[in-house]
Order: sequence, then C-alpha cells, then structure tokens
Amino acid sequence: MNQEKEIVVKLDDVCKDYPLGKTTVQALQGISFEIMKGDFISIAGSSGSGKTTALNLIGCVDVATSGIVTVLGQRTDKLDDEALTNLRHKSVGFIFQTFNLIPVLNIRENIQLPQLLDSSGNSMSKKEQEEWVDHLIESVGLADRATHKPNELSGGQRQRVAIARALVMRPPIVLADEPTANLDSATGESILALMKRMNRAFGTTFIFSTHDPDIVSIADHVIRLKDGRITENRRVEEKAEL
Ligand SMILES: Nc1ncnc2c1ncn2[C@@H]1O[C@H](COP(=O)(O)OP(=O)(O)O)[C@@H](O)[C@H]1O
Ligand SMILES: [Mg+2]
Repeated sequence: MNQEKEIVVKLDDVCKDYPLGKTTVQALQGISFEIMKGDFISIAGSSGSGKTTALNLIGCVDVATSGIVTVLGQRTDKLDDEALTNLRHKSVGFIFQTFNLIPVLNIRENIQLPQLLDSSGNSMSKKEQEEWVDHLIESVGLADRATHKPNELSGGQRQRVAIARALVMRPPIVLADEPTANLDSATGESILALMKRMNRAFGTTFIFSTHDPDIVSIADHVIRLKDGRITENRRVEEKAEL
C-alpha cells in the first residue's frame, strides 16, 4: 500500500552564501529536496559539503540567501525573527555532536529543561509532563541514571540524554548534526538504532547528518551533498523493517 505522505520540509533552489573577508563562501548552491513526515533521513557528505548549513536552514537557525525553505507548510523567508523562533520552538528538537548537556543538572533535569524554559503555554499538565519525561528516560534506557550528572555518563549515554531532551516537547522534527561523530563506531550504531526506534515509536521525522558512508544505510532517505550541491537524493519507498 502506498499511502500518501505529508511533506514536512521542502527546499526549492536554495543557496546559502557566507561572507568571508572580501570573498564569499557558497555553502549551498541551489539545492532542492522534499522530506516526508515520519521518515528517517540522512544528509550525507564529507566535511565542508554543506550539511550543517542545510540543517540550520531546516531548523530555522539561519535563513537562506536565495531560494525557498518551507517547514511544516510555512515559508521561512516570509517570517520575521519572532515567528521564526516560534516555529523553531514548536517544530524542531536538536541533537548535537558534542551533546550540549548542562553539567550542573542531573539527567532528568537536563531532559526537563526545555519544558521549564517553555513559555508558550504547554498543553500538557504538570503531571503529564512528568510522566512523559519518565517515559522518555525509560525509552532511552537511562532509568537507573536519572539522578546522575552528565560527567558520570559515557559518551553514548550522554547522547541518549540528548535524544530524550530533543523529544521532550514532542516536536514533529528532530535534527541531529553528526550525532555519532564523537562516539566509537559500535556506540554510534547503537545511538542511530535508538534514534530509529524513537522515529518509529513516536512518528517523529528525524534528519541526521553524517560523513560516515557506513551509517547511511539505516536511513529511509539519503540526500548526499558535495561542495554545496546534491549528488544523490534517494528515498527507499518500501524498506524492510530491521
Ligand atoms: N559562518 C561561516 N562563515 C564562513 N564560511 C562558513 C560558515 N559556516 C560554514 N562555512 C563554510 O561553508 C561550507 C559548508 O560548511 P558546513 O555546512 O559547515 O559543512 P559540513 O557541515 O558539511 O561540514 C564550508 O566551506 C564552510 O567552511
Ligand atoms: Mg557540519
């Protein structure tokens, strides 16, 4: 059965230039792609190919120099700073290469932090928020570490915390910029497998970047960049479940 899937992200002939001294770096040179809801997408390419730039545009952290970026049906070039920030807050969770946890907070507090910082009037009650955090901690396999501090955890465990934190506001999209780059390959694979389980369990669209050719095979959709251009855009329609 080929169900009609919703497009959650669309890039249309997008360019991104960075001024660098008297010259300009053309980080993205006219890229176009569509991302379907619920997919597990890899943005692949070697260092400097434009992966982080592309993720920053999708995540409304930066705006394109030209072309159109549409996130959840909203053209980001039509939004002012405040509207962009709102779109980012309600739509996107982030996972970073370097985990970016707060050292003085324990694991549970790190995961809860986006809830505490949220001023948009979350529809979840306090109790529901607590239960959701418990469920996430359980899902990422850290129930016995909830009161530990980040520096008491391994790299792989820290990235599990970051995955739970990225999901705490139930965003429709999670962006992960080289989430396995600081992990050994076995741990990296287990982190990607965990992300994929979360993707399947919650229907969250995950977009991860990687320069490792071995780990793109887990993706439903591979977008490969080289020097700011797309060299491959392949979506696996019917993928055998792992
Ligand atoms: N803030 C910036 N100022 C100038 N050049 C940048 C900036 N950010 C990225 N670049 C350049 O843009 C290109 C793409 O970078 P990036 O998106 O970070 O690639 P990747 O994440 O694939 O390594 C590279 O040539 C990089 O040096
Ligand atoms: Mg990068």
